Amino acid sequence: MFFYDIILVGDNMKLTIHNLDHQGRGMGKIDNKIIFIPNALVDEIVDIDIVKQKSKYLEGKVIDYIKQSKDRIDPFCPYFNNCGGCDLLHLEYEKQCEFKEEKVKNIILKYTGLDNVVSKIIPSENIYYYRNKVTFQIHKRIGFYKEKSYEVVPIEKCYITNEKINNIIPYLNKLNLSKVSKIVVKCSNKIMVIIYGEIDDVDVIKVLANHVDTIIVNDNVIYGDGYIIEKLGDLSFEISKDSFFQVNTIQTMNLYQKVLEYCDLKGNEKVLDLYCGTGTIGIYISNYCKEVLGIDNVSEAIEDANENKEINKKKNITFLLGDSKDKISDIDFKPDVIIVDPPRIGLDQSVIESIIELKPAKVIYVSCDPMTLARDLNVFKNDYSIKEITPVDMFPQTHHIESVCLLEIK
Ligand SMILES: C[S@@+](CC[C@H](N)C(=O)[O-])C[C@H]1O[C@@H](n2cnc3c(N)ncnc32)[C@H](O)[C@@H]1O
Repeated sequence: MFFYDIILVGDNMKLTIHNLDHQGRGMGKIDNKIIFIPNALVDEIVDIDIVKQKSKYLEGKVIDYIKQSKDRIDPFCPYFNNCGGCDLLHLEYEKQCEFKEEKVKNIILKYTGLDNVVSKIIPSENIYYYRNKVTFQIHKRIGFYKEKSYEVVPIEKCYITNEKINNIIPYLNKLNLSKVSKIVVKCSNKIMVIIYGEIDDVDVIKVLANHVDTIIVNDNVIYGDGYIIEKLGDLSFEISKDSFFQVNTIQTMNLYQKVLEYCDLKGNEKVLDLYCGTGTIGIYISNYCKEVLGIDNVSEAIEDANENKEINKKKNITFLLGDSKDKISDIDFKPDVIIVDPPRIGLDQSVIESIIELKPAKVIYVSCDPMTLARDLNVFKNDYSIKEITPVDMFPQTHHIESVCLLEIK
């Protein structure tokens, strides 16, 4: 007997979607095998075709909607389902937030056994046009990769990308892109274009200079200063070609405010900001503590961080270039609080061990992947209590979710 309703009709199959997976795909079952179906929502009844058969699961695509969910909205983007960017554009934003909060709760419960630690999600104020950075792939014209493929889908506009970036797409398409592999565009109130590949510099300047503020070809700044300045409240941050900056600027304030709240600083603390990027978190919290030490392994990020320290007139911060793994066991600094904000792969086991040895009263873990967060919390669990996890939606219209976690020493 099947738990899911399956009726075979000709070549197509009808089935009811009962839940979403962590990537926001609808899930059903056929002959006891799980099937994943993009653009299908809970309670929908869909006609599907199977597009992939694996030994443990199937993948399908919707041919027709027999019954649509009340939470479905028109995914108005012409590239939805084709470009690999947004995967929740068809779901009402409030429901996207419910889905992401549940997802973090489920992952944390399943992999750590911890219940009731995940608090309410902080939704994003700007749900479209929020991305301040994109990487365009090239096939004759600029576009984005199709999901799980190197096929380039040409695009004229992206509904989650800042309009300043959208506005220069026609000019990018005027360039001779035949030997260009990708173009990265970053923006604040200024625009930076980074072109990777072979291209005529004079031509690039002729086409783009009136429309952007700085242009870099591979490693060479051919126009402007080679950086842009982004503002977070009263603070200003220089961002160069290879430096990380959060992609949703307005929501970054909410993310950092939650970090500051969890730090609960009284003014006398030493804070270690591991994976500090351009020094943003350290600079944001520096008025509330005695001293900050930031570490990052990208030299441009540390150069920017030192510049940002000067721009924002901060005296109590030091930045070090190096791998967290090596530096953390090398520093003469006894932190009261450690903030970690690693890439998606999470923390190296040896970094967690070094943090535990340093015995800070608090660890604030900023994570962009709840799976690696859960894995790492299991290592901290003997020595630290996991007090609270707040999901912060930095990436509306996609299944991605940022979380901030407060750990306190036992
Ligand atoms: C998610 S970003 C966070 C940056 C910063 N905290 C922010 O909010 O903008 C992760 C940062 O970790 C740095 N990183 C990656 N691997 C590292 C490592 N092994 N050691 C030190 N830093 C690393 C990257 O350069 C990047 O700046």
